[in-house]
Amino acid sequence: MYSLLQRLNLVSATATTGLLVLLPLVMFSAWLKMPSVLPTADIRVYDVQVAHGSYDHNLYKGGAAWDHVFASIDLDADLTPLFTWNTKQLFVNLVAEYDTKMHTGNQVTVWDTIVRSPAEAKLKLRGQRRKYILTDIRRHITSGQSMNLTLHWSLMPWVGVMTSGQQSGVGATFTLPAAEREK
Ligand SMILES: *[C@@H]1O[C@H](CO)[C@@H](O)[C@H](O)[C@H]1NC(C)=O
Repeated sequence: MYSLLQRLNLVSATATTGLLVLLPLVMFSAWLKMPSVLPTADIRVYDVQVAHGSYDHNLYKGGAAWDHVFASIDLDADLTPLFTWNTKQLFVNLVAEYDTKMHTGNQVTVWDTIVRSPAEAKLKLRGQRRKYILTDIRRHITSGQSMNLTLHWSLMPWVGVMTSGQQSGVGATFTLPAAEREK
């Protein structure tokens, strides 16, 4: 006769083996279901201004003055194809990408959000202001500087490793005017 303990041991060993087989299958099937065409995002950037002033009047008054960018952003994107049965949530960010003479491949996140369900995956912004400061590492922005704004995401699965991607193409390209001094 098996003791109760032996039976429990057998049950838990079977369950563990089952999970070890099941989890890779979940990962693999979700990977199979991934869209072959990446979601597109329609982005418009307007009312672009460059201000020369202190970083944040509320944070530190009278601090060193920088050039920083203000703009209004419209966004339409549908990220529902990224939801499979192995998608827990998406970290989504709008990234300004630009090259300067001194530094290439600059990337600055200006807005982000977390999408937790397919119901939230249709993104629509109108006249959105940046959430995070947009300035160059040298804190000076040359008039006529061109920037791209592109939608990026990181997909956090229930099982497996986080993957990331970005929309196909570029969301929007915009050109910065000369800096205006803040009063
Ligand atoms: C911005 O987008 C254009 C295509 O629209 C591309 O040629 C250029 O390399 C991009 N610039 C950066 C800094 O990614």
